[in-house]
Amino acid sequence: MSTENEKKETIILGLESSCDETAASVVVNGRKVLSNVIYSQVPTHTLYGGVVPEIASREHVAKVNQVIRKALSDAGKTWEDMDAIAVTYGPGLVGPLLIGVGSAKAIAYAKKIPLVGVNHIEGHICANYIQEDLSFDVSEKTRKSLAEKNEIDDAAGGFKPPFMCLVASGGHSHIVRVDDYAKYTIIGRTHDDAAGEAFDKVARAIGLGYPGGPKIDKLVREENGNPRAIPFPRASVEGAPYDFSFSGIKSAVLNYLNGCEMKGIEVNKADVAASFQQAVIDVLSDHTIQAAIDNGCHRVALAGGVAANTLLRETMRKKAAEKGLSFTCPPLIFCTDNGAMIGAAGYFDYMNGQRAGLDLNANPNLKIGER
Ligand code: KG4
Ligand code: ZN
Repeated sequence: MSTENEKKETIILGLESSCDETAASVVVNGRKVLSNVIYSQVPTHTLYGGVVPEIASREHVAKVNQVIRKALSDAGKTWEDMDAIAVTYGPGLVGPLLIGVGSAKAIAYAKKIPLVGVNHIEGHICANYIQEDLSFDVSEKTRKSLAEKNEIDDAAGGFKPPFMCLVASGGHSHIVRVDDYAKYTIIGRTHDDAAGEAFDKVARAIGLGYPGGPKIDKLVREENGNPRAIPFPRASVEGAPYDFSFSGIKSAVLNYLNGCEMKGIEVNKADVAASFQQAVIDVLSDHTIQAAIDNGCHRVALAGGVAANTLLRETMRKKAAEKGLSFTCPPLIFCTDNGAMIGAAGYFDYMNGQRAGLDLNANPNLKIGER
């Protein structure tokens, strides 16, 4: 008879509902994704130019059961196959978070499976561990500690810590040193807007709509925007070389647009978008590469919605290569919010012995590394 420690696979259902995506995924050993179901509310919120928290909560309620059921059936699994259910409990919008947390607690109770609370930002970072076509057998190994887990990863050739990770999303911009699985040190942070927020605000100002990041990315590529057309500022924070400040560039874009309007000059949207994007990406990439070098990290990674940006991915790849660093970033579908990254992060938390009680609550301001 097999015992818990001799099990070949640890299978976790990851559930995400912190903002405007209801998402669930079945993940094996934190790396192999068996299903990935995402219900995006973007069409709903587009009408309002941004996420409306109350409407987001209601849509999560309407979709969460359906999304979870589909994640299980796409994976060809049942609740009996699940070792745990992992759910985002922060940071994010409190209403949307509560829908996921409440659903996961009900399932954990009814199906008698362990519950793991996952930090959304750590989830984004763990998207780097996902390997879609990886399958490996660890049946001979027991899983008593994460040190042992590292050996398993070596054998499997998976991406592993330590590495320096830029996490840039709609609500967060951090440079995080990932010292080990589930062990994080914040090296840099934004003092005002998040990078994705700046993309969204600038996109709105030039009339592209929500969500702005992908629209700016596409406009620049399709219309060949000139990244040197307008010299927008590359802000840095005195005494904090890895920190960010994006409110200045956002204001500079707005001032530029107002100036054009007053002088009756027609704005070239693609040039504005390209110049803005180049300025933000210069800062994000330079700070991350420098943080890696100064901290003796040989590997750099990207995470969060902005990691889906074409220029950011290309720039990081190029700058990392120039400095002799290796570079990785998740497939596009795992950069923006998804359940697989929560299943991946949940696996490493689960292997670390972390379990949540039925008193787990949403924490909209949860910090990286906070337990
Ligand atoms: O991680 P995410 O899906 O949700 C949050 O946790 O915030 O990130 C969404 C953010 C939005 O601000 C969106 O505009 C930005 O990521 N984003 C992009 C791109 N795709 C999404 N920003 C720049 N380029 C993209 N291709
Ligand atoms: Zn996110």
